[in-house]
Amino acid sequence: FPVRAATLRNLYHPPRRQFSASAVHSSKVSILGAAGGIGQSLALLMKLNPLVSELALYDIKGGPGVAADLSHINTQSKVVGYGSSASGLAHTLNGSDMILIPAGVPRKPGMTRDDLFSSNASIVRDLAKAIADAAPNANILVITNPVNSTVPIVAEVLKSQGVYNSKRLFGVNTLDAIRASRFISQIKGTDPANENVPIIGGHSGITIIPLVSHSGHPDISGTTLDELIQHIQFAGDEVVQAKDGAGSATLAMALAGARFADSLLRANHGQKGIIETAFVDNPLYKDQGIDFFASMVELGPDGMQKIHQVDKLSPYEENMLKRALPDLKKNINRGVDFVKETA
Ligand code: NAI
Repeated sequence: FPVRAATLRNLYHPPRRQFSASAVHSSKVSILGAAGGIGQSLALLMKLNPLVSELALYDIKGGPGVAADLSHINTQSKVVGYGSSASGLAHTLNGSDMILIPAGVPRKPGMTRDDLFSSNASIVRDLAKAIADAAPNANILVITNPVNSTVPIVAEVLKSQGVYNSKRLFGVNTLDAIRASRFISQIKGTDPANENVPIIGGHSGITIIPLVSHSGHPDISGTTLDELIQHIQFAGDEVVQAKDGAGSATLAMALAGARFADSLLRANHGQKGIIETAFVDNPLYKDQGIDFFASMVELGPDGMQKIHQVDKLSPYEENMLKRALPDLKKNINRGVDFVKETA
């Protein structure tokens, strides 16, 4: 049976408004690392997205195979896949409106996201160089961890090539928001589709700051709040341990990446009022030397349209923020220094 747009829309939550039937929507979306755990499921979800006209898949192993498989799904988009070669990467990137990057190594039990730096920093740097050459105007969605460092790496590379556009670079931390809405619904016995917990800060451990006081459940407090925050901040570790050496979150992450990509595509095509959390170039703490910070971000035709700063944090959240900022600064500087040292 054909996959219908309405079916797809139910897959992403919160439910979306329809587009006008007359508008033309078509985007080329590329996925780098498309044959991995996240990449394959993400590619499947993007193949179901009616806003995608072409899906280009690149991986150093298995890109063409995933593309051949997906190309049989009866939705309209064209699917192409490339293996490891500079020309394959260039073909993938040429003309892309959006580039999703889940390429790299995932965590094993006992590792923090920061431990991935030594493997993933150079992968992301080299992919960013290729993007600067082939698709400098694309929206770039970085999934590869440690996101707190990989996003600054991409920014530094693009700056060095003179093509940096801060409105088009996003660290994908949507999974933190998805987890928060799920976990809070389990405490309150509600439908997670109706729960929305703003996430600010970064995307690892204590840098993930869920704003429960802005969630509609400011009554959650004491041990329940402590446990909820701990659960959201370290949910990734639960998955890494349960997978026992076979990787980290892939399925929920693919959904999170597909949701952010769908939100941005809809905003690019003119839908208004779309807000997601994202780790972005952010003026909020620049005076403290912190150039990137996750905020609730309004998306628009040109990428990031507006950063919604949170008015008032609870004392509990102020305390989380105080603890997070030094870590965040370290993570960001590590990325920036890496590009400077290895350029
Ligand atoms: P995986 O190992 O299953 O897949 C990674 C893929 O990247 C592999 O197919 C590999 O061949 C490919 N790859 C490696 N180097 C490449 C290169 N230079 N160019 C193109 N492809 C390349 O890993 P998985 O589970 O898909 O995770 C990918 C990344 O996503 C990891 O860094 C992981 O930590 C991160 N992640 C991020 C989350 C987030 O919330 N932002 C959540 C979960 C994971």
